[in-house]
Amino acid sequence: MKKIGVALLGLGTVGGGTYRILMNNHDAIAKNDGVDVEIRHIIERDVSKAEALGADLSIVGTDIDKVVNDDKVSVVAEFFGGIEPAKTFLIKCLLAGKSIVTANKELFSKHWPELEEAAKKGKAGLYFEASCVGGVPIIRTLTQSMQGNNILSLMGIVNGTTNFILSKMADEGLEYADVLKEAQRLGYAEADPTADVEGFDSMYKLSILSSLAFRTKVPISKIYREGISKVSKEDIAYGKKFGYELKLLAIAKRNAEGKIEARVHPAFIPASHPLASVKGSFNAVHIVGDNVGDIMLYGRGAGDLPTGSAIVSDIVFAAKQAKPQYAPFKNTEKVSDSGFSSNFYCNYYLRMKVKDEEGVLAKIAGVFGKNHVSINTMIQESDGENAKIIFLIHKTGEKNVKKAMQDVALLPCVESVDAVIRVEE
Ligand code: HSE
Repeated sequence: MKKIGVALLGLGTVGGGTYRILMNNHDAIAKNDGVDVEIRHIIERDVSKAEALGADLSIVGTDIDKVVNDDKVSVVAEFFGGIEPAKTFLIKCLLAGKSIVTANKELFSKHWPELEEAAKKGKAGLYFEASCVGGVPIIRTLTQSMQGNNILSLMGIVNGTTNFILSKMADEGLEYADVLKEAQRLGYAEADPTADVEGFDSMYKLSILSSLAFRTKVPISKIYREGISKVSKEDIAYGKKFGYELKLLAIAKRNAEGKIEARVHPAFIPASHPLASVKGSFNAVHIVGDNVGDIMLYGRGAGDLPTGSAIVSDIVFAAKQAKPQYAPFKNTEKVSDSGFSSNFYCNYYLRMKVKDEEGVLAKIAGVFGKNHVSINTMIQESDGENAKIIFLIHKTGEKNVKKAMQDVALLPCVESVDAVIRVEE
């Protein structure tokens, strides 16, 4: 039986869930995996959290050096979130030879190279299954199960808060602001929801996932990001008429020139796409490999026990590794621009308000034609004075669409351009 000492840094939602799983599953892990996990330290200022869990209070404290100096601790699980003090503490632990396990996607996506350098110096492991899509074993799938493939694309709903909001807007015909308030009341959204609703959380996760999928570093600086705060119930309803669902997608693809395009934004997908049926706070990632074809992993991307499940899996995995493995690519923020494309190709949904008078459509179509933007379908609804026009545009480069919409907005007959939403077919 391999005995390992573990320290838990923080006893919040996920730290608490991890504690409960480690206690409840201790004997099963020992029997099934031959690993006897002993929790030796809990770093937590609020002792009442430890009391509520029935933890041994003699191991609860605030001194990280007790963890660093305890030779019996080989794995440190971090639940502080954010950059500091997590980064300083984890680097200290890594340099002392202790492997770390974390759900901290912001820290990992921004400082992975520094963490890896410290880990190599300390001959320690870095495990971050819980950082992306909570309890869904997506990291292990990418690193341990896809060797027989070149991954062609990865597309996911990797944020539960935004999926909850968009699902409710779609199902109940509500506006964003009203659903956000309800999500905050129910505890799905934070008091400051920026990280989730503006796509930062998804961007952090996409940086980690796409780096592993394409075996090359995809820093957050190379990811296009747009959140859901400007999405309207009107567009969700029109999308439905075309057979689409609106989702906040994290997308990474290798394009025909071998360049990577990575982006987070709201997108319409056909209602028949497997990701369209992912509702509420659930997450899912759809991967296409050149040999395996399509795979989809689905589950809870947040929460005490789902994320704790991934943390515990990493603790056991860390205990069983003879030698730590590091990123299968040069782990640096200094990547060449030439490996990435920002002119990605999509179909588009466009909504605008125009004066309802002769020649308007011809003028708009003229601007589209000049910019190589080709109309697939359109709907027009008029109140006699003004008309609302919705276009579906054939696949084209982002730059063409942006230029066309700038030019269209300058036409005197166009009152406003109200929505430009990408469509992933
Ligand atoms: N806030 C995230 C979500 C979970 O809503 O999915 C942690 O990344």
